[in-house]
Amino acid sequence: MSDKGRGTWGSNFGFLMAAVGSAVGLGNLWGFPYKLGKNGGFAFLLVYIIFVAVVGVVVILGELALGRKTKLSPVGANRAINKRFAFNGWLGVLASFIILSFYSVLGSWSIKYFFTYCIEIFGSGFNGMSGPEFFGNFTADPVQSIIYQLIFIILTSAIVIVGVQSGIEKFSKIMMPCLFIMLIIIIIRSVTLPGAMQGIEFMFKPDFSVFSDVKSSFDVIASALAQMFFSLSLGMGTMVCYGSYLNKNSNLVKNAVLIPVFDTLIAVMAGLAIMPAVFATGIDPAAGPSLLYITLHGVFESMPGGAFFGALFYLLVAIAALTSSISLLEVSTSYFVDEKKWSRKKATVIATIAIFVVGIPTALSFGLLGDVKLMALNGELMGILDWMDYVGEYLLMTLGALLMCILIGWVAKPSMFVAEIEQSGYNFKYKRLWSFMIKFVTPVLVFITFLTATGLFDKIIALFSK
Ligand code: PHE
Repeated sequence: MSDKGRGTWGSNFGFLMAAVGSAVGLGNLWGFPYKLGKNGGFAFLLVYIIFVAVVGVVVILGELALGRKTKLSPVGANRAINKRFAFNGWLGVLASFIILSFYSVLGSWSIKYFFTYCIEIFGSGFNGMSGPEFFGNFTADPVQSIIYQLIFIILTSAIVIVGVQSGIEKFSKIMMPCLFIMLIIIIIRSVTLPGAMQGIEFMFKPDFSVFSDVKSSFDVIASALAQMFFSLSLGMGTMVCYGSYLNKNSNLVKNAVLIPVFDTLIAVMAGLAIMPAVFATGIDPAAGPSLLYITLHGVFESMPGGAFFGALFYLLVAIAALTSSISLLEVSTSYFVDEKKWSRKKATVIATIAIFVVGIPTALSFGLLGDVKLMALNGELMGILDWMDYVGEYLLMTLGALLMCILIGWVAKPSMFVAEIEQSGYNFKYKRLWSFMIKFVTPVLVFITFLTATGLFDKIIALFSK
């Protein structure tokens, strides 16, 4: 019944697992632990949790309500509220293309590492190569990079093509609990290594000196906010899209609280899985992809049972990345299904091919295109992967969230969405607070993040501190 046409979720648990699956991804595994350590440990965690509570929950509830109210994918959903806002849906489709193009590359490496560790259990997968050596050789090889990117995109596409209920929901319902269990096993291994305490300290030691001056305070705030939007898959239509498959008697408020709670819990757990092991092996915790691939290679190499734990860990990374990438692909697929009335099969295949092509430069950005540098709006030069991340995460997602707050809070009326939230007979106790937040508080905070990403905020602060 339900996978014909647009599709609906089979159960609330299924929806929840799919939405948590979308939220939990590479952002939790490499973004969060590192940013936590770099931006003041416990101080960052506090700021992050406050933002999740006052911004994350508010925006996620808005997105789910917008989706369920209109029962349309992001372009149609925005348009249904106000014709001039259809472009916000378009920005979401664009963001999903850009994010998936680099996400599929980062995710594809986990498949390569998973295979290599499986071989390593029985023999020699890495042939004695060091972390940087193996990573360098692999990512510099254009054929391998593109083949793995293709494998990852085909896996994503194979799940989406089957449908909302029998593809996305089923996969997430099985895989998310598995991911949770694997994470616990890895945490136990990691925190029981000698020297692990230092890693826990790196993550949680409260360092409030990051708030000692205005500029660094705002940097921490903007970094926490951008991380939160990315981690909760907000501001680009994913939650609108997933919300549009919900039936009218589901409890939106409960879901809007549970998704961020699970996402934050898993981010902290990821930190506990990674950082103690990194410190136990005396390696410097690096940023981003190199933490996840190069640094951890050294960690698994020197850990008892490392090949087994390595295989388990990269399987976990691959699952986390896949449950996120299916939600990204679904944004484009649902656009073609809703707006162009294409079949799900045709929509998925065409979106997949387009995303594969857009992702090729990123796949080659550590080899053939290694010297290409692109400029961010604040004048900073960056490699292709970082630039794609910058445009998707810092510009398009914050802009999308800002526009959505304006749409719900000002162009339409929050009461319209409160009525949707209360559809099922649910009494939304905090409706006044929510309406106030989405009108006044959330847009201001999101705007600050956007300004920081464009470099304008630094200029404004410099002006005042002269
Ligand atoms: N939330 C995912 C992560 O943390 C990334 C993502 C962003 C997924 C936007 C969907 C939409 O890795």
